[in-house]
Amino acid sequence: MKRIDLHSSQGRYPILIGAGLLSSLGPLIRKYCGLPANSKVLIVSNRVVAKHYLGTAKRSFSKIIKNIRHCLLPFGDERDKSEKVLRYLWKQMVKAGLERTSCAVALGGGVVGDVTGFAASTYMRGIRVVQVPTTLLAQVDSAIGGKTAIDLLSAKNIIGSFHQPKLVVSDINTLGTLPIEDFRNSFAEVIKYAVIYDQKLFEIIDAYGEQFFKSLKKEKISRKDFSFLEIIIARSVRVKVDVVELDEFETKGKRMVLNYGHTFAHALESASGYKLPHGKAVAVGMILAAKLARRRGELNVKDEMKQHQLIRKMGLPVSITNGQISRKQVLSFMKRDKKVRQGKLRFVLPRRIGSAVVREGISDEEVNSVLNQILKLK
Ligand code: NAD
Ligand code: GLY
Repeated sequence: MKRIDLHSSQGRYPILIGAGLLSSLGPLIRKYCGLPANSKVLIVSNRVVAKHYLGTAKRSFSKIIKNIRHCLLPFGDERDKSEKVLRYLWKQMVKAGLERTSCAVALGGGVVGDVTGFAASTYMRGIRVVQVPTTLLAQVDSAIGGKTAIDLLSAKNIIGSFHQPKLVVSDINTLGTLPIEDFRNSFAEVIKYAVIYDQKLFEIIDAYGEQFFKSLKKEKISRKDFSFLEIIIARSVRVKVDVVELDEFETKGKRMVLNYGHTFAHALESASGYKLPHGKAVAVGMILAAKLARRRGELNVKDEMKQHQLIRKMGLPVSITNGQISRKQVLSFMKRDKKVRQGKLRFVLPRRIGSAVVREGISDEEVNSVLNQILKLK
């Protein structure tokens, strides 16, 4: 098991990463959150995740805490980050009799984590939340750093709060039931961490990533594959923790580096009517951002090619051919992005593998030029 601590304004909390941790969830929560035996705990999940993991999670509390309830979010996808589902969750918290000292446990992917985190941050002005992420994306990204949110009027993550968990328990075994495409798409975020911050992580993915996906296809994950996963998750978490500690509330411009590839990605996802999966959009977004960096003389061709080859090797896209998306649309969506400041586009640009900077005031002409090279659009 690996343990990484995050020091936040709401206190320090451990992020535990390892195989089989779910069966010790109760004792871990008891140990790290100091819950008394008469505490009330509400586990929030969805049907798919509950089918595989709710039983183990609940059993882990036996003899430790008696008052364990659960509730399942209705849709099992992004639609659960809504006002309606949030209200349902608040009601479940009231019905379960949760008090200020109670604890909500988010068992699932980023969707379950985001909405449960937001409900916990607002219920009784804030109760404890423990994140138990079951997707690769949630284990390396969304469960860490305290951002919680729901969507409103098709604006993603527009209502939210910063509410740090008391504990994060990432059981690698839960990733065993993830569809291979979800795995692959989430790998874009792991590559992102490597490019912006961790050259060694880049080398590890380069050396073992392809083999790992081959074993996944054969559904034969070996002990070696689990140790590869534990290493890449822990290194990704280390990057996220370091960046969050520098800029917890995203007021210093440092946390923005985590959005490498995302300005292009969000615009591509929106322009495709959300048919393009997030991970694939991030992969192409990183290709575009690296091209922009090279055009501005910030990145050398060797490192640009290294990133290109790794993204390809992991089975992620390096360009987009889509007759339904226009470049004009992509540019206009980019201008609506949260990262735009006074109408000027801001981008995270790599300087080399393992380091990136935020650059402002990039012209439409520069952006269009890289879009022309990579996107075979309308
Ligand atoms: P998700 O939560 O929708 O999960 C994807 C699918 O996998 C769902 O259908 C889910 O039921 C299923 N699933 C989850 N765990 C499984 C398992 N172990 N086995 C089988 N199926 C499983 O998607 P996600 O990619 O985890 O998260 C995406 C969300 O995270 C988005 O809403 C995004 O905005 C948010 N996000 C938040 C942050 C943050 O800092 N808070 C960061 C990045 C992303
Ligand atoms: N996922 C970006 C952040 O947490 O800031």
